[in-house]
Amino acid sequence: MSSNESGARIIDGKAIAQDFRRDVRAASDRLVARGLRRPGLAVILVGDDPASQVYVRNKRLACDECGIVSVSHDLPHSTTQTELMTFIEQMNADDSIDGILVQVPLPDHIDERHIIEAIDPAKDVDGFHPFNVGRLALRHPLMRPCTPYGVTRLLEKTGIPAKGKHCVVVGASNLVGRPMALELLLSGATVTVCHRFTQNLEQHVGMADILVVAVGKPGIVRGEWVKPGAVVIDVGINRLPSGKLVGDVEFESARRNAAFITPVPGGVGPMTVAMLMKNTLESALQRIKH
Ligand code: GUN
Repeated sequence: MSSNESGARIIDGKAIAQDFRRDVRAASDRLVARGLRRPGLAVILVGDDPASQVYVRNKRLACDECGIVSVSHDLPHSTTQTELMTFIEQMNADDSIDGILVQVPLPDHIDERHIIEAIDPAKDVDGFHPFNVGRLALRHPLMRPCTPYGVTRLLEKTGIPAKGKHCVVVGASNLVGRPMALELLLSGATVTVCHRFTQNLEQHVGMADILVVAVGKPGIVRGEWVKPGAVVIDVGINRLPSGKLVGDVEFESARRNAAFITPVPGGVGPMTVAMLMKNTLESALQRIKH
């Protein structure tokens, strides 16, 4: 973490993620030292969306570093729903595979919900399956969705307890906003969720002790809306026409008000990948006799 006299401390998600990745590597090496196999992750990409290709490449590189065997499947855009379902059934039955990651969004002709529901919940390292979302909602999580879980661990490691705080989540997506609200509830926070129909976003944002923004629109949260002393967690990753990567929060002005803020890139993104590695390891530990 670095600080600046006149502004927020920057939460170094990359460094915190690195600690988790190191722990996963050590645990994988211990399995091998005991004559057991390393964890295995199937990484499935359908089509050629450039952003998805970048994310998937990062996940595969993280596997190499963490001692996780990644089995890559790059399927053409023309892959049918039936073909993908058959493929997932094969992965479900494969004892060397502990995690199944299907990168989303999928092409329009494939029903994402059906695909997610076809994954064995015990191998659903993304935590997207209704079983895993339900377990989180009922306060007994199994596989926790990687980005919200990553934010939870980032807050913990930075020494920011969410318990009793007013947390405002901007964005109510299945991937981030909704499970984020559940994670914060589990931490004992009071949670407000804002979405496309919310009136007076500024007023809600201004009440947040901890603000988590996951919309995918650069600058949707103005820096001057942030309450002095708040913690700002920016989940957005947006590429501007100039090629620059920015979050959803106006960084420079938010930094003047906040006590802590995550940068983009180098904030939440690396934590998502680290939690994927951790979920895959934990799935393997359940499956490998040890
Ligand atoms: N697309 C954007 N983020 C994610 C993620 O965390 N997992 C998967 N499977 N797809 C994504």
